[in-house]
Amino acid sequence: MDLYTRNGFAGPATVLIRQQYTPNFTRVQGDYAPYRLEAWRSDPEPGDPRALPVTILRSPTVRVDVWQRAQDTPFAVKDVYHDQIFYVLDGHARLETDFGVLDLQPMDMVRIPRSVALRLADVRALHLIILATTEPLDINPQNQAVLSPAHVETPRGYDTPGWLTAEYELVIRHGEHTTSYFYDYDPLPIIQASGAPVVQRFNLANVHPMIVEGVSSPPARLMDGPAIDTMIFYLGARDSGRPPVHHNADYDEIGVYAKGPGVLGAIAVPGTAVWVPKGVIHQGPEENVPEGYIAWLIETRSHLELTDAGRRIAQLAETNQFAVHPTAAQTDAAS
Ligand SMILES: [Fe+2]
Repeated sequence: MDLYTRNGFAGPATVLIRQQYTPNFTRVQGDYAPYRLEAWRSDPEPGDPRALPVTILRSPTVRVDVWQRAQDTPFAVKDVYHDQIFYVLDGHARLETDFGVLDLQPMDMVRIPRSVALRLADVRALHLIILATTEPLDINPQNQAVLSPAHVETPRGYDTPGWLTAEYELVIRHGEHTTSYFYDYDPLPIIQASGAPVVQRFNLANVHPMIVEGVSSPPARLMDGPAIDTMIFYLGARDSGRPPVHHNADYDEIGVYAKGPGVLGAIAVPGTAVWVPKGVIHQGPEENVPEGYIAWLIETRSHLELTDAGRRIAQLAETNQFAVHPTAAQTDAAS
């Protein structure tokens, strides 16, 4: 059985009965293909404390970045074109923003709307995966059982008012370019923020799957935007049927494995992502894994492409268990 769906999990679905199992392909020629992205082994920090996040997938409206840092940022930075979701793959840091301070922990997801300045302090082996979208993104869980409002936090006020002796730099990212502003005071600290929440955080450990026992059902939505161009879902282990073979006609999918001990098919290392471009037929592994695992999923209407940095951590994937495709494994063995 194949399932052809419009508008991701929301639109009409058509069932095709076939004899052949269609996710398997023998080889592929060209770039439009599913890839495993081993984000956990992204290029190490080049030692340049000014290095910005490294983009691994891009389109005109959406970026997926990896940011590996051993040092504090020597400036504050604000992206004026994109909303950003910071996912903490590993490590710790104090995230200081225009709207207050958050102590980052593994599996945090932080929503940072555009034009919010941020910097990282007390950095300890921090490894982030960042989703950046021109569409505004809101934390909008499917229901309160999936993510309780009590587990969505806003930042606290600053402990100290900042230092008054240094020169402060604020880097504005505008597309491929940056412009720096300089100050003789620290422009970030706030005494208080009130009104609509801007920066928000939750931790994936506090998210629960939607379960319809034994039946395959869509994963639970965590975030989306008004145009439904990009959405984030929870994809942790659950008692459900295996996902059907499907053609997702409108959305690229990027699944990110976050935590074991259970494995997601052929994926066992946290920080491994699988990107399946829209329209590429796939199934994906069993989600009913009794040992448990945590994962999340990006769906985006944008047409993503691998960057050079992305290519360095990418391997062609098969779309049954998301293992490295046999032809890629052969190439690796030969090189
Ligand atoms: Fe899918």
